[in-house]
Amino acid sequence: MRVGPATMILLLAAVAPAANAQDGKVLFDSVCAACHQAGGVGNPGIAPPLNDAALWRRLGDRAPGYVAGVMTSGLSGMIQSGGQVYAGLVMPPQAMTDEELAAIGSYLLGTLNQTGQAVDPALIAKTREAPPSHSALQKLRKGS
Ligand code: HEC
Repeated sequence: MRVGPATMILLLAAVAPAANAQDGKVLFDSVCAACHQAGGVGNPGIAPPLNDAALWRRLGDRAPGYVAGVMTSGLSGMIQSGGQVYAGLVMPPQAMTDEELAAIGSYLLGTLNQTGQAVDPALIAKTREAPPSHSALQKLRKGS
């Protein structure tokens, strides 16, 4: 059988796997690591560490919502993390699909921080519908 370009595209679409934790690592390393470094170890004074077990433990059930909020709205305002102060720097909202952001969030929580949590594409979609303000995210982070 001769396979034309249109058939080829259909075949490729059919075998493309859904975004998963593996894609999450690839996406994290190519996008988030530009500021947060590979493995999310952070860049002192520039971008806070994301392999911050204490932060995720403190956030508990609110962690997936916080990650979804920061990725879709970005973040600004003063943050204290690992003995460093991050102030005056803005994390821009991340322009990616719901599936891609969910894969990154799941990699961040489930793989990097072993919280046993994942971020669902539906949570990203819901967060986009009512994007949290940076001050709401800061409050959530402080646990108030
Ligand atoms: C252009 C640089 C940049 C990129 C790219 C970036 N971030 Fe950030 N991120 C920051 C900065 C700066 C802050 C701290 C903002 C502040 O001080 O309020 C931050 C904060 C965060 C926080 C909050 C950390 C905490 O301690 O509360 C999370 C979570 C986060 N980023 C996740 C991500 C993820 C996931 C990606 C990739 C999709 C990403 N970031 C891409 C710069 C970046």
